[in-house]
Amino acid sequence: MKKLMVLMVMVYATWMLAAGNRVLPLPQKRGGMSLREALDKRHTVRSFQKKELTAQQLADMLWSANGINRENGKRTAPSALDKREVLIYAALPDGVYLYDPELHLSKQILPKISSADVRKYCGKYDAPCYLILVPDKNRQPREIFAAVDTGYVSQNIYLAAQINGLGTCAMGSIVDREKLIRELNTGKNVPLLVHPVGIPR
Ligand SMILES: Cc1cc2nc3c(=O)[nH]c(=O)nc-3n(C[C@H](O)[C@H](O)[C@H](O)COP(=O)(O)O)c2cc1C
Repeated sequence: MKKLMVLMVMVYATWMLAAGNRVLPLPQKRGGMSLREALDKRHTVRSFQKKELTAQQLADMLWSANGINRENGKRTAPSALDKREVLIYAALPDGVYLYDPELHLSKQILPKISSADVRKYCGKYDAPCYLILVPDKNRQPREIFAAVDTGYVSQNIYLAAQINGLGTCAMGSIVDREKLIRELNTGKNVPLLVHPVGIPR
């Protein structure tokens, strides 16, 4: 029975990776710069090296942004009425991935949703990665709460970037929101902020 379970997990993992999904290591939760130091150093970065993020850097950024930090499924970012509505898409050179906080911790997988490089529709800064913050209207219909909650995630991204030796910029000026909505198939949900992320140049 145990062997069958192991086999099933292996088959599932192989199938998930064959679909183009990425392996997302568990987040680092200890060590690094103190919060005081990160606050002291936090600043906006608009120019990045071409080097892609490592899997660990991507995992740390996504988990810090809005990952699960408690047994009850609650998140690193607060949300009004605990709606947890802020979705994070990672736009990378080989496509777009949708962060699933549960799948991250249970199976270490980052699901791929598109093979398009949509970074050009995000912001005007050349970066190896863009994180796209999209509040889900089904979970939180009140725009003011959705905007505030997105702000918390954005600040987490700033601080996590600082701690991980990366740089970022919160961007409300999205190059082409309509194309992003189409490519990401977000329907009535609108990207509110995008964050280029990379090693500062
Ligand atoms: C909601 C929001 C939207 C922003 N939009 C942009 C933007 O579209 N383009 C940009 O270059 N910077 C943008 N910024 C970054 C601000 O310009 C930056 O935070 C500000 O100049 C202060 O600099 P600092 O972050 O280094 O303290 C935005 C910041 C916030 C909080």
